[in-house]
Amino acid sequence: MPSQPAEEKILILDFGSQYTQVIARRVRECRVYSEILPFRTKASEIKKLRPSGIILSGGPASVYAAKAPQVDKKIYDLGIPVLGICYGMQLIAHGLGGKVERSAAREYGPGQLQGDPKCALFDKLPAKLEVWNSHGDKITKLPAGFRPLGKTENSPHAVIGDTKRHIYGLQFHPEVVHTPRGKEILANFVHRICGCKSNWTMESFIDRTCREIRKQVGEGRVILGLSGGVDSSVAAVLLHKAIGDRLTCIFVNNGLLRANEATAVEKLFSREFRIRMKTVDASEQFLKKLKGVTDPERKRKIIGNEFIKVFEKAARDLKKSDPGHYRFLAQGTLYPDVIESVSISGNPAALIKSHHNVGGLPEKMKFELVEPLRQLFKDEVREVGAELGLSKEIVHRQPFPGPGLAVRVIGEITAERLRIVREADAIVLEEMKASGWYYKVWQSFAVLLPVRSVGVMGDERTYDDTIALRIVNSHDGMTADWVRLPHELLAKISARVINEVKGVNRVCYDISSKPPATIEWE
Ligand code: XMP
Repeated sequence: MPSQPAEEKILILDFGSQYTQVIARRVRECRVYSEILPFRTKASEIKKLRPSGIILSGGPASVYAAKAPQVDKKIYDLGIPVLGICYGMQLIAHGLGGKVERSAAREYGPGQLQGDPKCALFDKLPAKLEVWNSHGDKITKLPAGFRPLGKTENSPHAVIGDTKRHIYGLQFHPEVVHTPRGKEILANFVHRICGCKSNWTMESFIDRTCREIRKQVGEGRVILGLSGGVDSSVAAVLLHKAIGDRLTCIFVNNGLLRANEATAVEKLFSREFRIRMKTVDASEQFLKKLKGVTDPERKRKIIGNEFIKVFEKAARDLKKSDPGHYRFLAQGTLYPDVIESVSISGNPAALIKSHHNVGGLPEKMKFELVEPLRQLFKDEVREVGAELGLSKEIVHRQPFPGPGLAVRVIGEITAERLRIVREADAIVLEEMKASGWYYKVWQSFAVLLPVRSVGVMGDERTYDDTIALRIVNSHDGMTADWVRLPHELLAKISARVINEVKGVNRVCYDISSKPPATIEWE
């Protein structure tokens, strides 16, 4: 019987670059499966995985430093194409008998590359390309069999290669956006040099991840803290697909949720997706702890601590009903959540960071983590969500902060003040959706200010609260600008909030950018 063709894959050996995951992402964009492995992986193990190509990532070290991470040199004899990027290229040169030396000046920033038009890496690309450099070492002697295949103003060896053995090196970073045609250089490596077709899809990501989850979890049970946000929702549906009822989601109602949030989450996950779910209504407990608190940082700390307590108790209860089985905690951690940690695979720093996502829960509770989205970027998670059948409403919903409406009620949090911000928020959401603006902006919400002012309603004087509208655009939440929303839409939202939300007689529009302001008010 003919055997199933093996899935084509590119292996990426990680030497600690902050861009390793971006390389993996670029390969996925070529619709080819990629996997990141620690730099120490033996050539014999790599051979067993039968990759179509190997990429050696960049890294912060210098190849001649005492403890510089090394590659198993036998990989060059496997007959598998290799591409070294920055540090990866220097490793190739150093390891195969060339010479690498420290440059007089560190080359950092843009450069212009003139690539050899006959080299397959530059197929269908212009003769001159903008590239992004970030390195302190340079190659001064090429190894036997290698020749220069591209140069920049500062480097005659910006691209090198042994075209017979299909081993190439790039001094610059093709994976970053500052190398505008870099994606095509990588695509040329993947398709033209490694011969991969474009047959990997999000569907195959889902299948593979389900297999991996089943392998990790075995017969065990998994708990997942569901917030209703994109990441935890996609993780929940993915895990449910993999292990069915061995997943239990815990949804904590902290009393700081938006209107109808708890019901909507329950309806979707419990009724539509038939995921086992435990909803804990802890609203009174949270509000009691927050009574009289006005300091934003204290609010956040109280909410974080209380969440852990509630979650721990819910998990303990589950464990009691089925002791020994609830060993796993799933999280919707994404790659940007671990981006600051050292990325040399196997380095515990990566784990420590992910623990912080749930305020130290797993450390205390001795859970093993299941993080199926760990290698993905937000837009890829959205793609996975859509593929899993989650609606646009969930997949493209705006971010909502963990501390919820608590950071949108400035000053003291009371049930009455929460009612006001909740009703105003619902109107903002409704109008943003009705006008088509909701999906065009990063976030749009209402904030209740601790300011009362005089107004007139009918013949009566009022002395009521103020709502601020915060509507911003952003790429990643790090910087933001206020949205120039049509005046008619602002007028409509303002009129509705003042008419429909009892206790509000004034609406302001927040026109501050981040920095110096932040998106949330607290
Ligand atoms: P700031 O207010 O810092 O917010 O400009 C940047 C982005 O992060 C969201 N945000 C949070 N998300 N937990 C979260 O999960 C939090 O504690 C938190 N605080 C802010 C905010 O909504 C914005 O998108």
